[in-house]
Amino acid sequence: MNPHLNLLQPYPFQRLRDLFQGLTPNPDFRHVNLSIGEPKHETPSIISEALANNLGGLASYPTTVGIPALREAINQWLQRRYSIPALDIDKAILPVNGSREALFAFAQAVVDTSGSQQPVVISPNPFYQIYEGAAFLAGAMPYFINTTPENDFVMDLAQVPPEILRRTQLVYVCSPGNPSGKVMDIQAWKTLFELSDQYGFVIASDECYSEIYFDEANPPVGALQAAHQLGRDFSRVVMFSSLSKRSNVPGMRSGFVTGDAALIEKFALYRTYHGCAMNPAVQAASIVAWNDEAHVIHNRTLYSEKFHAVTPVLQQIWPQTQLPDAAFYLWINTQQDDTLVARQLYQDLHITVLPGSFLAREAHGFNPGKNFIRMALVASPVETIEAAHRIRDYLK
Ligand SMILES: Cc1ncc(COP(=O)(O)O)c(C=O)c1O
Repeated sequence: MNPHLNLLQPYPFQRLRDLFQGLTPNPDFRHVNLSIGEPKHETPSIISEALANNLGGLASYPTTVGIPALREAINQWLQRRYSIPALDIDKAILPVNGSREALFAFAQAVVDTSGSQQPVVISPNPFYQIYEGAAFLAGAMPYFINTTPENDFVMDLAQVPPEILRRTQLVYVCSPGNPSGKVMDIQAWKTLFELSDQYGFVIASDECYSEIYFDEANPPVGALQAAHQLGRDFSRVVMFSSLSKRSNVPGMRSGFVTGDAALIEKFALYRTYHGCAMNPAVQAASIVAWNDEAHVIHNRTLYSEKFHAVTPVLQQIWPQTQLPDAAFYLWINTQQDDTLVARQLYQDLHITVLPGSFLAREAHGFNPGKNFIRMALVASPVETIEAAHRIRDYLK
């Protein structure tokens, strides 16, 4: 077997199950699960209807690049959302089956192990675990940059030794961030682009939370938008986007990658062999989803309601709780051992949260997730707000 497989770590949710072994949750309370980042708002009927109405597509094999109408719908959405010029839909846009598989596969296509030194893939820490596994299986060494309150949860690449940057072939960035919700500003993008120019690494920009934000007048800036605003082309920049969170269809598996056409072309070739073309019915439903913003605005309203209700309640017990820039997580410094807090909330209140240390690795002498918990405000407003009060009343 591929020896790199032995480097893969258990997923955080497996570790959570192990952590709760032997605990009996308080039977007086209904379970509220705030641990998994899985959208729970209703799937818009226009999307499920489009899926059902296009089942005839199952009679033919889809192509890796998808139908032009889907790539054009994505192209139009990109122009509306990011004010960037139209892209070449035949070269620069590729549908993928959710951003997860694409974030993983992209490293396999990008990383070149033919040199004398092991390549490096940079990842934020805490991070989405796919980045680490993708680096390992591509034969690279992950290098973690801790994102903490001290650096305002933004990766500080200036602290990376030049010998590491010289070996770096790929940098994963996540904005809005999971778990912090932090949105990178133009200055942070500028620094990243300049380092990419200097060292030649590719930027994989994970933007799957881009549509969950709280200020309608101020949507998170994206990688291509930042490049365009800075007067650059998209060399060595690829963004990953998804319908899962935007449109409440995590089970549909639909997203896209776009950016540097030369990289997308090679990635498309890789994917032809990988055999991951998108189901035709999903393509049809995705067109409907990308073309509609009303359901996305409604979705944001629900998140906004929950965040504005829950944040002040939890601030009463955990003063460092803050409304994030975007995404659907509260990333809370509890100032206590995060695994103990998670066990206590599960046992005494029947509420599941994710210990922050499970989302990070020990790097540069510490685990930057330690003492933090991640709460995904994905359940209904009533359930989520009730859970916050339950926690506040108990811990106060
Ligand atoms: C940071 C981040 N990136 C990517 C994904 C993958 O999302 P999807 O494959 O549904 O697009 C997730 C899912 O939770 C995530 O948290």
